[in-house]
Amino acid sequence: MTKNTLFQYWPVMIGEFYNSEHNNIKKDLLNFFKDYEKKNPKGNKQLHDKNYTGNHNLYQSSYNLHQEKNDALHKVLKFIAKSILETAKLTNKASIDQFENHKHELSLNLVETWFIRYNQGGMIYPHNHGNFSWSCVYYVQVGKESKKMNGSTYFMKPYNPQYPSDFGSKYMKNAQTTFKAEEGKLLVFPGFLYHGSHPFSGENDRMIISANSMTELKKVDK
Ligand SMILES: [Fe+2]
Repeated sequence: MTKNTLFQYWPVMIGEFYNSEHNNIKKDLLNFFKDYEKKNPKGNKQLHDKNYTGNHNLYQSSYNLHQEKNDALHKVLKFIAKSILETAKLTNKASIDQFENHKHELSLNLVETWFIRYNQGGMIYPHNHGNFSWSCVYYVQVGKESKKMNGSTYFMKPYNPQYPSDFGSKYMKNAQTTFKAEEGKLLVFPGFLYHGSHPFSGENDRMIISANSMTELKKVDK
């Protein structure tokens, strides 16, 4: 008898990874950010454009943070790269399996990396990183005040705004999904997915690292 099958096409995957080394590197990362901001007080130029009306009340570094020399930074970037690679491998398993008999390896390149320090109430409007397959946010510091409506990251449903209202479509009912910000947590998401951050208020500034990546299937000579 022919087997019934339920296919799943174009899934929206969001990966959640925890860095067990976070507490060992947090202090060094915060000191590095402090020094960086001292050396580059203006940060990302866009935020100083007087006609710019988007994200506000925050400091953002340039997009080439990975070119800076700092041990703690490179430890966390390694964790980020490993986690994104794991996500890309699992998501593309069917395609990778086709190369099973050949010597191929998936490699990942962090093309853009940056950090953001949010002043009290600072926020990011909904946007996407459409040119990249996988992007991420890593929470370096959020503090005990963090909760769903304070400093969390939200993702918007990528489908058409209209959907049937009967129970059959309940799985896609919510217009957005929200992940609580937690220190040492990394969220990996596809670049096309619209997202933003709820304003954060707390004793310490909210600090995050973000990255945009490219993955490539390379032939390995063995
Ligand atoms: Fe983003």
